[in-house]
Amino acid sequence: MAGKFITFEGGEGAGKSTQAEALARKLDAFGIGVVLTREPGGSPGAEIIRHIILSGAAKSFGEEGETLLFAAARADHVETLIRPSLVRGKWVVCDRFHDSTRVYQGVLGKVSRGLIRAIEKATIGDAMPELTFILDVPATVGLARARERRGTAPPDRFEKEDRAFHEALNAAFRNAAEAEPQRCVLIDGNRPPDIIASDVWRYVRNRLHPETAPMTVEDIAR
Ligand code: TYD
Repeated sequence: MAGKFITFEGGEGAGKSTQAEALARKLDAFGIGVVLTREPGGSPGAEIIRHIILSGAAKSFGEEGETLLFAAARADHVETLIRPSLVRGKWVVCDRFHDSTRVYQGVLGKVSRGLIRAIEKATIGDAMPELTFILDVPATVGLARARERRGTAPPDRFEKEDRAFHEALNAAFRNAAEAEPQRCVLIDGNRPPDIIASDVWRYVRNRLHPETAPMTVEDIAR
């Protein structure tokens, strides 16, 4: 596919959204057509499923049931937004993607690796991210940030889990980064956002060479 696909992953309050936004701005300033999106959600159909999952309404379906809902949301997101954008030569920056399913539902939820990989094949196919930043912050720091951001709103389905859950989550994300060094970069998220953003940009330049990005179909048509 003509475009590049970059994802940001990590536990609660790791700073993914801030970094995904900063990278999208930087790529845009560089003259690259960029689509900034997130999961669960990112397309109208997937946003409906996001609401069902995060409200906790699907918890009674069990871990496998929730996994299938995340998969349905991802299938819609990939088919209606991510793949068409990549085909047109856009760069897609996504806040959470398949590593979240591997970690939250797979490692923490104990859904079998076989099922998770089969679902990935069916929902993502060849629209796999080329570069993934895994932001790592201590669970206490991340949860405090998430609490502050939420204000008086109630915690969502996953924020409600205890501290041990969030520590296990961070360890699982670190393992995921270690398992695929060619795709994943582990980033210390417990630093000022602008320092992290310049680290991220350095990796993007070294690995994906934005200066050689081909123009998008829209640019050529202009
Ligand atoms: P969100 O409000 O987007 O939180 P965050 O700022 O932490 O990204 O909530 C998404 C929640 O859904 C988050 O707790 C992680 C969880 N999740 C999964 O369990 N599996 C998945 O495949 C995805 C994409 C998210």
